[in-house]
Amino acid sequence: DFPIPEIPSCLQLRTVTKGLIPLAESKKLDNYRMGAHVCLWARQEGRSMFGEYRAAVMMQLRFDGTFGFPGGLVDKGEDMMEGLNRELMEEIGWDPSAHPVTWSDYYSTQVAGDRKLVLHFFIKEVTLEQFIALEKSCLQSRDYGKEVMGSIRVPLYTMDNMYNGLPAFLNNKFAGTSKQQLLLALHHSKLLTEHEISDVILKSQNLKL
Ligand code: GTP
Ligand code: MN
Ligand code: MN
Ligand code: MN
Ligand code: MN
Ligand code: MN
Repeated sequence: DFPIPEIPSCLQLRTVTKGLIPLAESKKLDNYRMGAHVCLWARQEGRSMFGEYRAAVMMQLRFDGTFGFPGGLVDKGEDMMEGLNRELMEEIGWDPSAHPVTWSDYYSTQVAGDRKLVLHFFIKEVTLEQFIALEKSCLQSRDYGKEVMGSIRVPLYTMDNMYNGLPAFLNNKFAGTSKQQLLLALHHSKLLTEHEISDVILKSQNLKL
């Protein structure tokens, strides 16, 4: 049973909750294409000259100039989990037999009625070693330089001017609802508190607190 995830109050925004449906309900939708993306992250605590960080979180620069998570559309006749793992192999050189994304990594399902698209979202913690291996294998992947223009780490800190870092990053263009998915993943994995998330959203809008 996969209900709609609990959305923290700092993310009770129409842009975040719009289209969220229970997984079972999405199976009743006819003539919808299905897609799945995953937030892969690894714990990594430390301090750089820019600020404190807690994790490496993977996103990618896509061929269309927007940021998004690895993953993609499921082919006709293909199982969703199969499709997601195949996309990860194509886009980041993921070895699905060694580290499959499974239902235990499931987080949410969102329907985009206007595009007849159902998008599933997964959140998966890996070891830092695995994460670094994936960053390297991305360069050798089939779709690197075609669909995927680069694997990137999300800057998770906020710099002294209260804007550079994560707030500035959030002002990029994102594919689909991946910006909202990023914030949900940071909350779900407890990398940011609710307070830190609302803070970052305000700062991204360049509002003084
Ligand atoms: P092709 O192999 O070229 O078909 O691409 P793909 O199968 O890798 O599909 P893609 O990853 O582009 O995802 C399909 C659609 O989902 C895109 O048109 C975007 O609108 C949307 N999308 C892409 N990335 C994300 C993401 O991280 N989150 C969400 N919610 N939507 C995304
Ligand atoms: Mn330099
Ligand atoms: Mn793809
Ligand atoms: Mn893709
Ligand atoms: Mn594809
Ligand atoms: Mn493709």
